[in-house]
Amino acid sequence: MPTNPWRGIGLDVYESHMSDPDVGQLAALLGITAAQLRDHPSRRVGIRGIAAGNGLDALDETEVDSVSGYDINADYLEACRSRYEARFGDRMHLIECSIDRSLAITPTDLLIANLLIEYIGIDEFAAFVAANTTAIGVPSCVTQRNGEVGVVSKTKYSSAFVGLESIASEVDPDALAAALSAVGWFEVSRSEHPLPNGKVLTRQDFAATS
Ligand SMILES: C[S@@+](CC[C@H](N)C(=O)[O-])C[C@H]1O[C@@H](n2cnc3c(N)ncnc32)[C@H](O)[C@@H]1O
Repeated sequence: MPTNPWRGIGLDVYESHMSDPDVGQLAALLGITAAQLRDHPSRRVGIRGIAAGNGLDALDETEVDSVSGYDINADYLEACRSRYEARFGDRMHLIECSIDRSLAITPTDLLIANLLIEYIGIDEFAAFVAANTTAIGVPSCVTQRNGEVGVVSKTKYSSAFVGLESIASEVDPDALAAALSAVGWFEVSRSEHPLPNGKVLTRQDFAATS
């Protein structure tokens, strides 16, 4: 199986690209993650596709028992560890893995998955949620609509992201809601967050049907 292209994108390049003024995604995701944490105060927080921990600054270390971060890129996780270990200590658990239906997670009150579903697909994400239903409190997800921009925003770093075009697919929020509904989770809220270059981030929160 070919290596996942995310493993070949350096953190400096990734963060420079995402914080380019025309892209503005790092800051937008930081703000949305802060809102997710505020809206769902949780002692056990899980973040899928955590990268280097964007958003953890918004988490009060005195208010959590565990922070679990999952990502396919080991270098991102190492950076996350060095940035946040002093704050979270042994309550932070960073796991290098490919997120799919075979992944069994530790119980999590709030499960954040921001800009991850594009890369694993709606069906795989729904199967992952279904397989871990008893371990999840609230799933809160962010996906992006690309408009005319395309999957990879234009910056001087864009060439490093070309490999993602082979694995990325745009997520229709209605299709995501339908897929999660089919496995027992209904959408309780949706909000849209436009970006400088015309892309739009959509946040959707879910609750179990029973
Ligand atoms: C666009 S970044 C999102 C970063 C972060 N959620 C944020 O809010 O800034 C996507 C992240 O998902 C990770 N990722 C992509 N596909 C993955 C997979 N199949 N399994 C685990 N992590 C994956 C990438 O390595 C990257 O860190």
